[in-house]
Amino acid sequence: MGEVEKRGEHAPAPAPADWTYAPAPEGRDIVTLRERYGLFVGGEWLEPRSGEHYATISPADEEPLAEIAQAGAEDVDLAVGAARDAFSNGWSSLSPSERAKYLFRIARILQERSREFAVLESLNGGKPIRESRDVDLPLAAAHFFYYAGWADKLEYAFPNRRPRPVGVAGQIIPWNFPLLMLAWKIAPALAAGNTVVLKPAETTPLSALLFCDVLRQAELPPGVVNIVTGDGRTGAALVQHEGVDKIAFTGSTEVGKAIQRELAGTGKKLTLELGGKAANVIFDDAALDQAVEGIVNGIYFNQGHVCCAGSRLLVQESIYEPLVAKLKRRLSTLRVGDPLDKNTDVGAINSRQQLEKIQELVASGEEEGAEIYQPPCRLPEKGYFFAPTVFTNVAQSYRIAQEEIFGPVLSVLTFRTPDEAVEKANNTAYGLSAGVWTEKGSRILWMAQRLRAGVVWANTYNRFDPTSPFGGYKESGFGREGGLHGLEPYLEFDGAETFGG
Ligand code: NAI
Ligand code: MG
Repeated sequence: MGEVEKRGEHAPAPAPADWTYAPAPEGRDIVTLRERYGLFVGGEWLEPRSGEHYATISPADEEPLAEIAQAGAEDVDLAVGAARDAFSNGWSSLSPSERAKYLFRIARILQERSREFAVLESLNGGKPIRESRDVDLPLAAAHFFYYAGWADKLEYAFPNRRPRPVGVAGQIIPWNFPLLMLAWKIAPALAAGNTVVLKPAETTPLSALLFCDVLRQAELPPGVVNIVTGDGRTGAALVQHEGVDKIAFTGSTEVGKAIQRELAGTGKKLTLELGGKAANVIFDDAALDQAVEGIVNGIYFNQGHVCCAGSRLLVQESIYEPLVAKLKRRLSTLRVGDPLDKNTDVGAINSRQQLEKIQELVASGEEEGAEIYQPPCRLPEKGYFFAPTVFTNVAQSYRIAQEEIFGPVLSVLTFRTPDEAVEKANNTAYGLSAGVWTEKGSRILWMAQRLRAGVVWANTYNRFDPTSPFGGYKESGFGREGGLHGLEPYLEFDGAETFGG
């Protein structure tokens, strides 16, 4: 201000020396971290009986943030017991409009505290603050609002079927959308009258632990939601616990398969939302500049840590060259760096383990003969970062075309005819999502009928809404989350047998 005044009204502003963005960091002060967290069981913070803790870090600079409890089998047992008591002693028989009241409160508190949650989410998980602020938080609140609305309308949602809650739901979530996955899991479970034991991912427990504060603020009865932290061993103990009636899991296909084997024959209900290797199909009549934005959003959003990421780009041969040229040019404008900077497009990779997995798969792509492109960008020296990457000359058999990389890495393939596009798009063990870019509405419908994917986006990508069901085919899992479909796994119906899946 001072300088502007000194220059006076008529002096022209000096031309900037260079056009790079000045840092625009989001303040961290709004977040108060404890040194050490316990387990949230029966509405209280408990020290873990296991006696074990581990450090959770910020992946952007490897700075330790807090000590987290590693819950053991005994701790999980306490949490399941608390959830069972809460289920039997009031929650399941509470009038549905009362249940809705708590969900509405939670939704409103999330909105009120959204900046705090967004900063924490970016700090602990590495995603750009712009995304946690504009996507994760609004959607998390929207899920609670949406399911709050159904809580007292279940009889209308499922007419003549007498819906009843299942009981205690064990929920295991991943690290890519920590709070949003919590909302996807907890909101429908509570709306349907269940109680919950939720285990966040080991690298991103902090937003789930802050959420316990929201539950207290909302005066949710103790034990209705319990949060146990820890790694896969804690998850396995929850899956194996006899007092759990339903398991909902989002994570790797490998662990999903192990859980399905474990639960076979137990009568517990199960839904699995697993990996993906989605095709994003660009026809030659598509609006190319819009398609490029959709491609970028499809694979570089959240560093590509997205189960429905558009990781296989299928381009019609006639537009291959101009499209790839536009894409590479667009890539050079992406800013990689500090997740808490408001200008950052691509933040930190969630963990060292995930960074190593990305590096390994990228090396395999180069060895198998694909051509790699990375825009010139300087990565921060500390922390876990990976430059946005495009592979061309990719054959369908390459690992980078088959395996889920879960990083900012795109594999480009080509096709000539719509039939070939469908064949290549479906040539995967997964089936979670797909994208289609074309000017022709008839072709969108033609494609959508043939793509074996739970969600097909047309002329857009990675769009979410709580009213819209989401889930997979084949090795992407089964069961749907979101919408009315998302309530069904949390309900029993008169005359219906209980069975896994
Ligand atoms: P993961 O499947 O091991 O972890 C997901 C959740 O499951 C975490 O909470 C973890 O603690 C828990 N878990 C791990 N082992 C378990 C077990 N035996 N029983 C019960 N729960 C268990 O995934 P991870 O190792 O973090 O990532 C590996 C790969 O999986 C990623 O590179 C990515 O390809 C894929 N993935 C897919 C996700 C999706 O949204 N579909 C989310 C996270 C990972
Ligand atoms: Mg794992």
